Amino acid sequence: MDRREFRLFDLLASIQNKYDYILIDCPPSLGLLTINCLVGASELIIPVQAEYYALEGLSSLLETIALIQTNLKQELSILGVVITMYDKRIALSDVVLRELYQYFPGKIFKSVIPRNVRLAEAPSYGVPILNYDAGSKGAKAYERLAREILDIHKSL
Ligand SMILES: Nc1ncnc2c1ncn2[C@@H]1O[C@H](COP(=O)(O)OP(=O)(O)OP(=O)(O)O)[C@@H](O)[C@H]1O
Ligand SMILES: [Mg+2]
Repeated sequence: MDRREFRLFDLLASIQNKYDYILIDCPPSLGLLTINCLVGASELIIPVQAEYYALEGLSSLLETIALIQTNLKQELSILGVVITMYDKRIALSDVVLRELYQYFPGKIFKSVIPRNVRLAEAPSYGVPILNYDAGSKGAKAYERLAREILDIHKSL
C-alpha cells in the first residue's frame, strides 16, 4: 500500500488539534503497526520492565527508532523511559536500573512503577487503576509519572 508507514500519521493529522494529548499503546513487536505508531507519534515513552531480557528487547527498539529517524521521521524523540514492575526485594532490579541509567542518561523518569498486585487486578475488572484503587501504590506511581510528564512539557 502506498505510504503504508504513514497511515496513522495521516489519520492523526486530521484530528490532533482537538486534543492536548493522544496516547498510543504500541503492540509488543516491531512490525508495520508499531512503525505506524512511531511515525505517527512526536514523542516516545518507553516502558521497560526491570528484568534482564527487557534490556535485550531495548537494543532492537533503539535500532528501529534510529532507522525511523533517518528514513521516515527525523523529529521523533524519546520523551523518557519508565521503569516498571520494579521490585526492591530483587537485586537484579537494581542491576537493570543501573544499566538503564547508563543507556539513557537524563531520560529515566524519576517515577518508578512498582510491581503492584492492584495494577494486575484492575484490567480483569475492566477499569483503569484510578477507578479500581486510586490509593494503591501502583496508582500513586502512575499519577506521579503523569505529573512528571506534564512538568517536562511545561518547561519546554
Ligand atoms: N506494575 C505492575 N505490577 C503488577 N502487575 C503488572 C504491572 N504492570 C502490568 N502488570 C500486569 O502484567 C500483565 C501485562 O501488562 P501489560 O498489558 O501492561 O503489558 P504489555 O507489555 O503492554 O503487554 P502486551 O505486550 O501484551 O501489550 C497484565 O496482566 C498486567 O495486569
Ligand atoms: Mg500492551
